[in-house]
Amino acid sequence: MFLKILFLIAITALVKSEYVSYKNHKVYKVTPETDKHVEILNDVENEHSYMFWDQGIRKGRNVNVMVAPEKQRAFEKFFSDAGIKAELVIQDFERTAEVQRARPLTRSENIRDYAWDYYMTLEEIYAWMDAVAEDYPDVARVVSIGTTVENRQIKGLVIDHKRVPNATHGIMEGALHAREWITPATLTWIIRDFLESNDPGVRTMAEDIVWHIFPVTNPDGYVYSFTDNRMWRKNRNRANSTSCAQLNVPDDMSNGVDLNRNFDFLWNTVGASLNPCSEVFAGAGGFSELESRAIANYIQQLQSSGSVLYYLGYHSFTQLMLVPYSHTAGADVLEVDNYGDLFEIAVRGMEKLTARHNTPYTVGASADILYPVSGSGFDWAKGGAKIPLVFLFELRDLGEYGFLLPPDQIIPNNEEVMDGLVEMHRIARSMGYYRGSAGVLSNSVLVMIISVVAVLSFK
Ligand SMILES: *[C@@H]1O[C@H](CO)[C@@H](O)[C@H](O)[C@H]1NC(C)=O
Ligand SMILES: *[C@@H]1O[C@H](CO)[C@@H](O)[C@H](O)[C@H]1NC(C)=O
Ligand SMILES: [Zn+2]
Repeated sequence: MFLKILFLIAITALVKSEYVSYKNHKVYKVTPETDKHVEILNDVENEHSYMFWDQGIRKGRNVNVMVAPEKQRAFEKFFSDAGIKAELVIQDFERTAEVQRARPLTRSENIRDYAWDYYMTLEEIYAWMDAVAEDYPDVARVVSIGTTVENRQIKGLVIDHKRVPNATHGIMEGALHAREWITPATLTWIIRDFLESNDPGVRTMAEDIVWHIFPVTNPDGYVYSFTDNRMWRKNRNRANSTSCAQLNVPDDMSNGVDLNRNFDFLWNTVGASLNPCSEVFAGAGGFSELESRAIANYIQQLQSSGSVLYYLGYHSFTQLMLVPYSHTAGADVLEVDNYGDLFEIAVRGMEKLTARHNTPYTVGASADILYPVSGSGFDWAKGGAKIPLVFLFELRDLGEYGFLLPPDQIIPNNEEVMDGLVEMHRIARSMGYYRGSAGVLSNSVLVMIISVVAVLSFK
């Protein structure tokens, strides 16, 4: 056995490409304060001399920019000359990444003892889910909704406390973007709480809904972000592999599709790209990717036998709660018929979230508070699958660590998210979205009843 493992390691070492090191790369938090700054930053981003951690520059919004050691002097001079604020937040990317990857010295070998004090690998997450399902055989079971290009399973945990045939379902998905490590660390916590918490609010939320929780919806990318490139975002589909010299980025960038641009709702209309070398490559077509297709098929299958009330997507970072759609702004947000309800549920939930550890969150449509996007999972959940309650978290932090959020922030993050979720469910219930196993009350019916009552009382 031992020899076999050694042999496998040797083979793996031969096959694997080299770990991309960002040693001594510095990360700056850059704040464009004027339209001119935005223009300058857009030009700088298009040159790809520096790595922007985010797409879409907007006035007043910070953007993290990573700078290689040999470019630091030029970077600092350029930004200082342009009068753009650039605060150094990470001295050495690899050193901070090591801190994030660190594991407690005294750690149990039993995966059941996982205490949210380090970031689990994919194998660990799957082993942990298997153990949970084994410990709660009447309530929890592991499902696999599909296979990836690199032949990994996309696994989730179903939590069904009531076991009635006409249940109301809810979906949670994380790590659609590989490098957003805090998201599986949040979803495993939610799984644990839904099974073990005695808090009445948590119990109500756990038991009202049959939860289908997928901590890692992009397993290939997630593994790659551990083994090869900590900054990897997309999946690992190499079908559109090409030279990226013209874009001044490594060719490996073309070996993947941005899964959160690949869902077939207004696919590739805004905030996405058909260039495989782009971080937001939308793929060969809507649902060209195995992962996005697997999620959509699973939801449609649930809908054929019951109702799906919730779709909650988990991303990081910048402390936002997004409400669909991501392509509409201003008054156009009302294209979503229950936008007012979604907004209120989100705001009330985020008030409770903030109250826990004083972590501010901003609520709104992506085009208003972030940037316009199309083909995202949660927009498809609303516009394609017509799921009533659809939200997307951008978890901690505000850019101090960004994707490298240290392990000691996992638990406070999870605690506040849970508080927010419980309040969101409480408000949604009070609005009539959940009425026991009888199903979902149409919100427009509620509005009609209220208007009729209002008209009658004014007569
Ligand atoms: C990507 O590859 C697919 C399959 O070979 C092809 O149909 C598609 O046109 C390619 N797209 C781009 C943008 O290169
Ligand atoms: C759902 O199932 C429960 C238990 O079998 C039953 O009491 C209830 O009436 C059902 N509701 C609907 C809408 O079918
Ligand atoms: Zn993301």
